[in-house]
Amino acid sequence: MSLFAKDFMLGASTAAHQVEGNNINSDFWALESLPGTMFKEPSLDAVDHYNRYEEDITILKNAGLNAYRFSIEWSRIEPVQGEWCDEAIDHYRKKIAFCRANGVEPIITMHHFTSPKWVVQKGGWGNPETADFFKAYCEKLAKELGADMKYICTINEANMGLQITKLMKDMQGQVGDVQVGIDAGVARREAMMAYGREAMIQHQINPQNIFLNPGSGALGNAIVVQAHIKARDAMKAVCPHLKIGITLSLHDFQAQKGGEHEAEVEWIEEFTQYLPYIYKDDFIGVQNYSRKIIGPEGRIKPPAGAPLTQMGYENYPAAISNVVRKVAEGFKGEIVVTENGISTSDDAERVAFIQEATKGIQACIDDGIPVKGYMHWSLLDNFEWMLGYDRTFGLIAVDRTTQTRYPKESLSVLGKLR
Ligand code: GCO
Repeated sequence: MSLFAKDFMLGASTAAHQVEGNNINSDFWALESLPGTMFKEPSLDAVDHYNRYEEDITILKNAGLNAYRFSIEWSRIEPVQGEWCDEAIDHYRKKIAFCRANGVEPIITMHHFTSPKWVVQKGGWGNPETADFFKAYCEKLAKELGADMKYICTINEANMGLQITKLMKDMQGQVGDVQVGIDAGVARREAMMAYGREAMIQHQINPQNIFLNPGSGALGNAIVVQAHIKARDAMKAVCPHLKIGITLSLHDFQAQKGGEHEAEVEWIEEFTQYLPYIYKDDFIGVQNYSRKIIGPEGRIKPPAGAPLTQMGYENYPAAISNVVRKVAEGFKGEIVVTENGISTSDDAERVAFIQEATKGIQACIDDGIPVKGYMHWSLLDNFEWMLGYDRTFGLIAVDRTTQTRYPKESLSVLGKLR
């Protein structure tokens, strides 16, 4: 049954490193197979989306979806500083054209966690120059591909560095405290240090300087924000028609009595502190997976018996619309849900999640909130970063031995919503 207007952007999301495969010039590729690595397994061929994007976009379109959020891999475009790879630029040119030819709006992310290895060798997200390196890459792509682009997310989850820093500081981190596939169990000092040494010796990379940086903090955050502003302004100067924004990982903080102040502080850290830097943006990408309940002593575990996802956090599909409503109180541009989803092996759970989450989004629209799109995470089962391949967020399953695609019922349910 249709829920959304025909022109609503309804689609799914991926990120290059999680689906393309053989992203060999990136920092993550270097770190994945080191002895003592923080990664459960290396990404390798992933789901070979680099070679199979036509098949994947065709499945998306045939299901009824009209938008696709994906990322361009900086390390493919600029594997060596200042050396642009024409083959890679052409690849993304064709991918964007294929979306358009199929009536699918491409929503393009310029940075989704991975960076070229050379960027991190130069200090990565701890080096203020990275903002200028990122700007140069975005400006180049605006010149090359800008005419065919419209929605651009500069940086995915600009606030993730801070969230991880906080999680690591607590040293009580467990999988499930943060909306990304990191294994906070690795906070064990010795293991981290040995791994860091190995990364320096083999790749001249300090793992503290990757985007998902456990040592990030205020300086890292300032660099990310500057990278966004510089890239946005440079791309706009080349292509004023572009709609440019950032995406943030946002939780639905729910305060119990006595937890109101702490919940407010958490929201300021995750969202409000970014407003001075993004108020000129055309839209904001909202990414949410669950809620966090805050009591007088801080974070409270989900209620007994509450359903949990494979990620360890609560299956709570009402969170996304709560977050969208809070975002709309502070941010006055358009809102696009750039990620929302559930990691489960039971697709019936995903179907129920989608039905409830999207109903909440339509209710926001009915109340006058300018939500322009909903991108479900993810189009395909994929590489969930440090947790490897067994977390299944996809609307399409993939047998990675043959790379065969198996669309799930949830894909067709989502596709029928407009
Ligand atoms: C993120 C990333 C995605 C994750 C997704 C599921 O939000 O952390 O954008 O790359 O895979 O969130 O954890």
